[in-house]
Amino acid sequence: MRILVVGSGGREHALAWRLRQGGAANEIFAAPGNGGTAMEGVNCAVSDSDVGGLVHLARDKRIDLVAAGPELPLVEGLTEALAREGIPCFGPDAFAARLEGSKAFAKNLMRETGVPTADFAVFTDYAKAREHVLARDEPMVVKADGLAAGKGVVVARTRGEALAALEDMMVKKIYGPAGDAVIVEDALSGEEASFLAFCDGQTIVPLPACQDHKPVGEGDAGPNTGGMGAYCPAPVLPESEYGRMAELAIRPIVASLAAKGHPFKGVLYAGLMMTKDGPYVLEYNVRFGDPECQPLLMRLQGDLAEIMLACVQGRLDATRVGWKPETAICVVMAAKGYPGNYPKGMEIFGLDAAEKLDGVKVFQAGTRLAGGRIVSSGGRILGVTALGMGLAAAKSRAYAAIEKISYDNAYYRRDIGDKGLVREGK
Ligand code: AMP
Ligand code: GLY
Repeated sequence: MRILVVGSGGREHALAWRLRQGGAANEIFAAPGNGGTAMEGVNCAVSDSDVGGLVHLARDKRIDLVAAGPELPLVEGLTEALAREGIPCFGPDAFAARLEGSKAFAKNLMRETGVPTADFAVFTDYAKAREHVLARDEPMVVKADGLAAGKGVVVARTRGEALAALEDMMVKKIYGPAGDAVIVEDALSGEEASFLAFCDGQTIVPLPACQDHKPVGEGDAGPNTGGMGAYCPAPVLPESEYGRMAELAIRPIVASLAAKGHPFKGVLYAGLMMTKDGPYVLEYNVRFGDPECQPLLMRLQGDLAEIMLACVQGRLDATRVGWKPETAICVVMAAKGYPGNYPKGMEIFGLDAAEKLDGVKVFQAGTRLAGGRIVSSGGRILGVTALGMGLAAAKSRAYAAIEKISYDNAYYRRDIGDKGLVREGK
């Protein structure tokens, strides 16, 4: 199969790596790709948000399957544009992708289908939003409706913080049109988990639960990032709960979208908060998480390209999807300063030595190949990923691999996986 991976992060390197190991010898193309995807196949200089350019590329390269990494091209209609050319794309159509593209759409669908989520109200009028904030209890959460590159959510401890967030989003428009509508919702507390499921429009097959680490600093301090590390399985959501969680958080949404004429085909990601009153859905993503994808694909058994095609073609079957018994963990190595300003262009050393260690794979994120050298080009640079029998073993392998890697201004969290170790009593 000739497969086009869309995107340029660590998730896309993991997708390209895993897709290349299919039953048949698959040929991989990436748009635009990074230093890692360049080792798995051919990088093509088309932006991941250029739907027309991606369709043209897929036709030109006679692509059999497109695997969409990020949400933006899906929200902009990549799947239906490719379908018009007869090219299957793993990922939902633009209507179903609004689950991620519009938080108001997602919250209203959760309310309509009875999925547990924080109580909320949606505003397009600034004065009404202010009035609402002034009348409600602290703390609360203010969210911009549209895509804001992983930003756009403010957990406000006080009304003052919530009012400032409203002004930023609705008046100053710091996220542009994403702030035309805002959601004000109850603040929940608990541990978060990422719960994903393959969907073919009707059949759903849950993936093992993961836990991401969004804040930049150890102990979850500092601003949120795209994710500083993830592991799988995450004991915060034990395997015995996957079936129940799929019925609670995935099934109602998939059934409702099918009834609306937009069956969800791809991977649906529910961001959960495990509160003392039970699980709540914070958000949906219409794609793999980054970095959750990296540990998931380290464990996946089965032919990923076939699983993706089965999702697109409405013939998904749980027997196609298996998991290695080991735990996988991914520790993100970033540039000092991320998610604020950070330096770029650092040469990266030691990747081969790291990958010589048992069970270790280094996925590249913000990197590019420059004259045979790998240099940094983004804030999240590498996802050092390891398998081990149990979380403690996987963690020590990942950090041993990190010891082999060096570049200027390296930064990473040393506590990835620790919440899971506490739950395991270690
Ligand atoms: P979202 O993009 O909606 O997942 O929000 C990003 C992050 O904000 C989540 O991963 C949570 O850490 C936090 N968050 C979102 N909604 C809430 C909420 N209702 N209560 C507490 N924290 C929240
Ligand atoms: N790791 C969180 C996300 O991909 O949205």
